[in-house]
Amino acid sequence: MRILVTGVSGQLGYDVNKELHRRNEHIVLAVDIDELDITNKEEVDLIVGGFRPDIIMHHAAYTAVDKAEDDFGNCYKVNIVGTEHLLDIARKLNSKFLYISTDYVFDGTKEGLYESDDTKNPQSVYGKSKDESEKIVINYNKSFIVRISWAFGLNGNNFVKTMLKLGKTKDKISVVNDQFGSPTYTADLAILLCDMIETEKYGVYHATNEGYCTWYDFANKIFEYSKININVIPCKSSMYPTKAKRPTNSRLSKESLDLKGFNRLPHWQDALKRYLKELEEIA
Ligand SMILES: NC(=O)c1ccc[n+]([C@@H]2O[C@H](COP(=O)([O-])OP(=O)(O)OC[C@H]3O[C@@H](n4cnc5c(N)ncnc54)[C@H](OP(=O)(O)O)[C@@H]3O)[C@@H](O)[C@H]2O)c1
Repeated sequence: MRILVTGVSGQLGYDVNKELHRRNEHIVLAVDIDELDITNKEEVDLIVGGFRPDIIMHHAAYTAVDKAEDDFGNCYKVNIVGTEHLLDIARKLNSKFLYISTDYVFDGTKEGLYESDDTKNPQSVYGKSKDESEKIVINYNKSFIVRISWAFGLNGNNFVKTMLKLGKTKDKISVVNDQFGSPTYTADLAILLCDMIETEKYGVYHATNEGYCTWYDFANKIFEYSKININVIPCKSSMYPTKAKRPTNSRLSKESLDLKGFNRLPHWQDALKRYLKELEEIA
């Protein structure tokens, strides 16, 4: 298969590209903004049209959630218009299309787990941009939409790396304890995505590591596994107001994965241990 990977310099695109190369079964063209600006239709048509992928795995996105509240033009341009450009060419080439979305399409007010077909109600510019692109992608009959949350990977910044940095300079920190969700290790997710695109099981999925926690729980495990002695104080989100509103409940049901026979990802604590070990090895 010929596979186009977008966002290769980001967290998830990097791991997907790595996994595809590990499998050594495909011809892969992996690009980021320097090679292919997805907001430029001519460039998309020329480069993607020239490569003629059987599958497009689209991870590139505008992901600066708080900045997007003021910079909505750029956020919409990358996340909606950019996705539309890729989808247009996918239609022309009859390629499969994998789109990565987010828990931020939900408002977080549900009591239980969010099912993949639950009503969406994004509360932020970023969440709205991802919801709008989902609406475009879902109309294509060869599409997979995979919603993830709280991603961490080797390539790029994330909560784990921020905590490790703080652990070097602080002896106490406050971390939000009233937002519930699941971390997603991009190396684990990459395996599932590479399995998924081999199938014709199109649809909307949720995929995160198993188990749920708050950011406070997550921080505690990061410090425990890294043997960093620091006092972590639980606090409310209202103590740390952010520009973009985040869902209080981001717990995603994986039933859609089960129904289609896909393996769930390992537990987030197991993923975190492996991730910290990998970080240590490359340090
Ligand atoms: N990170 C999370 O916690 C999280 C949670 C839920 C869903 N997601 C979704 O998961 C996917 C992957 O996220 P990630 O964490 O890997 O994101 P990331 O690390 O921010 O990577 C996104 C990549 O897309 C590139 N990009 C931005 N504008 C572009 C353009 N116009 N043309 C081509 N490439 C462009 C970025 O380049 P620059 O860095 O130069 O801008 C970056 O390398 C995204 O769809 C995101 O919305 C992420």
